[in-house]
Amino acid sequence: MEQTNSEFWRAKRVLLTGHTGFKGSWMSLWLQSMGATVRGLSLTPPTEPALFNVARVAEGMQHHITDIRDFSAVMTQLDDFQPEIIFHFAAQPLVRHSYQQPIETYATNVMGTVHVLEAARHTASAKAIVSITTDKCYENREWVWGYREDDPMGGHDPYSSSKGCAELVSSAYRHSFLLNARIALATARAGNVIGGGDWGADRLVPDILRALQSKQPVEIRNPHAIRPWQHVLEPLSGYIRLAVALQDGTAPTGSSWNFGPPETAVHEVQEVAIFVASRWGASDAVHITPDHSNMHEAQLLQLNSSKANTQLNWSTRWSFHDTMHHTVDWYRGWSSGQSVEMLTKSNITDYLSLRP
Ligand SMILES: NC(=O)c1ccc[n+]([C@@H]2O[C@H](COP(=O)([O-])OP(=O)(O)OC[C@H]3O[C@@H](n4cnc5c(N)ncnc54)[C@H](O)[C@@H]3O)[C@@H](O)[C@H]2O)c1
Repeated sequence: MEQTNSEFWRAKRVLLTGHTGFKGSWMSLWLQSMGATVRGLSLTPPTEPALFNVARVAEGMQHHITDIRDFSAVMTQLDDFQPEIIFHFAAQPLVRHSYQQPIETYATNVMGTVHVLEAARHTASAKAIVSITTDKCYENREWVWGYREDDPMGGHDPYSSSKGCAELVSSAYRHSFLLNARIALATARAGNVIGGGDWGADRLVPDILRALQSKQPVEIRNPHAIRPWQHVLEPLSGYIRLAVALQDGTAPTGSSWNFGPPETAVHEVQEVAIFVASRWGASDAVHITPDHSNMHEAQLLQLNSSKANTQLNWSTRWSFHDTMHHTVDWYRGWSSGQSVEMLTKSNITDYLSLRP
């Protein structure tokens, strides 16, 4: 299917919001490698270093600093570029920051989404929109089984709730403006992802690698917490399939889609730390110091991705070990001065060489 995708994407005009971020940078490189004409609207990269800079993502696309809180700026960009496909990634994505800056979080995640959809519906060329939210958009019932697309929206903290709101915005746009229209709109929900080039705050694998690089011990306080792990390329491949299906009419429009790993892909935090440290060549760097006050925080949020599995023929390709070793080797290559653009593109090639 990816071969067909390459044909589909060649010279396609694709607009990405959030292209300077972690997922947006991977997506930009992937779309560039398929020959798409890509324009990105974002603020400056959110971290230092940033994948966007070290992989020289801007060189293969039209890079614009544009604040999605400013409707007229977004409208001007869409009017000028006339995209066929829009991937909306831009967000304030950090839970902790959302407690400190709730107004900024809602302004970006909710009104920013309104601005992108409003501009898209006034853009004659637009045919398909994939709006990226998160598994945290669901009302958390503390279930042990995976959330399905028609479960209620919710979110306790400002970040999660803003993403639940962004889902409701998309739903209202569909029903109010896009039903039977020429634009197909879908939302895509995935959980935390890992991969080379993430320097975000409060993320386990980047935190471990930061410690290893500075030859500090890796302190693990919640060793038995389990999380669903997936490489960033897994949901991105789902978004790509979804956009193709929206445009060629094989996916029902006006729909939401989960892209999560299978239930067997859950692993303990200590397993991740030990795997990463030993592949880095510092297996004795991991120090398990359980913090019992935190033990009850560990709640597993899982997605049921049966709809994407059956209707988009999407499933994850890399095992836990594949995911981890590609991630650690990427950071090792970066720290030894290899071309990050090549490292990233060779991860994409490896990924595509496996059938889903
Ligand atoms: N990384 C994950 O594990 C994860 C998990 C679930 C969902 N998501 C979602 O995926 C998307 C991308 O996440 P990420 O991890 O790449 O985040 P990131 O912080 O690396 O990137 C965020 C991007 O949004 C842009 N942005 C922020 N505010 C903006 C504004 N006002 N105007 C224009 N651009 C703005 C930033 O410039 C950056 O390009 C987000 O919607 C996030 O909620 C990410």
